[in-house]
Amino acid sequence: MKVSVIGGGSWGLGLSKVLSDNHHQVLVYDVDDKIVEKINTLHVCIQLNEFIPEDIRATNNLQEAVEYSDILLFVVPTKVLRQAIHSIKPWIRQPKLIINAAKGIEPESFLRVSEIFEECLTAQEMKGFVALSGPSHAEEVIRGLVTSVTAASDQEIYAKEVQKLFHNAHYFRVYSSTDTMGIELGGALKNIFALAAGVIRGQGLGDNASAALMTRGLVEMAKIYDALGASKESLMGLSGVGDLIVTCSSEHSRNFQAGLKIGRGKDLNETLDSMTMVVEGIRTCEAAYYLSRDKNLDTPIIDALFDVLFNRVEPKKALEILLSRALKAE
Ligand SMILES: NC(=O)c1ccc[n+]([C@@H]2O[C@H](COP(=O)([O-])OP(=O)(O)OC[C@H]3O[C@@H](n4cnc5c(N)ncnc54)[C@H](O)[C@@H]3O)[C@@H](O)[C@H]2O)c1
Repeated sequence: MKVSVIGGGSWGLGLSKVLSDNHHQVLVYDVDDKIVEKINTLHVCIQLNEFIPEDIRATNNLQEAVEYSDILLFVVPTKVLRQAIHSIKPWIRQPKLIINAAKGIEPESFLRVSEIFEECLTAQEMKGFVALSGPSHAEEVIRGLVTSVTAASDQEIYAKEVQKLFHNAHYFRVYSSTDTMGIELGGALKNIFALAAGVIRGQGLGDNASAALMTRGLVEMAKIYDALGASKESLMGLSGVGDLIVTCSSEHSRNFQAGLKIGRGKDLNETLDSMTMVVEGIRTCEAAYYLSRDKNLDTPIIDALFDVLFNRVEPKKALEILLSRALKAE
């Protein structure tokens, strides 16, 4: 099959490699001409400094990319998603199957990516939506290391279509799900705790603190799942607990890396200036903080991280506040 990939960064090219290995034809679109050129001439992913299969082609012509195939795989940072969707609209001639692999939530509206697509595209432009999410560092996928993810759609037929499209018996196992909300929430929310895990590591804390953070983070995620009506089964699956584990315990995670810098004393702006790749957890923390207020939830870790990121509370002070809360049953 033919697939158009919108966004030729680390994850866009990691997934393009899987598609190419599965003998699909891939055309990547990126706004950055340098990225397009490096893919076409040197066959490399410049963000990861890794080679990609030579049959993956790239273009900076959006019309060409949209007309190339009826499957559009979006892998752009969620911050630019609305703009990216609006830019493809004029070139859509028939309904497309949209797959999204970016992980994030819109602050203020608290919209998930599928809801943003529903707001921006008509039924004549989008025939179905599939979220692809799970514990998957691009650094490992691009090297063909074993990875498992979930393809979720409210319409099972599309979840299964995408499951088959990506499944590779050597290294990429794909599960299907019809709980789009649960899959999207897990992929987005875990980034908050990855940032927090980096902060506490930057403060010199060890594995005990990390394990406590992941466990209590899972409890806060469960409260949000409950409040929004998402399935707890998804929380316990690859895109929930699976992604939480990988992202809170691996140095590949740029959310963890950003947290590490903040934990060592850099402020948010300095940290972001020093990162070349997207750090989705920051906007997601903002979104979750206001959602938690709105739904009257008790989410102390999200609140503490929000204060560190946006209210200049010292990480050490935030930790003290967290640890000195009233005692309670688990
Ligand atoms: N890197 C990973 O391991 C990984 C794994 C799973 C999910 N994700 C998610 O995938 C998303 C993208 O992450 P990434 O690591 O690939 O980021 P990245 O920074 O490596 O790449 C983003 C790419 O998007 C391009 N871009 C920006 N605006 C665009 C637009 N309007 N149209 C087309 N291209 C545009 C940029 O030029 C860049 O090449 C994030 O939501 C991230 O959370 C990443």
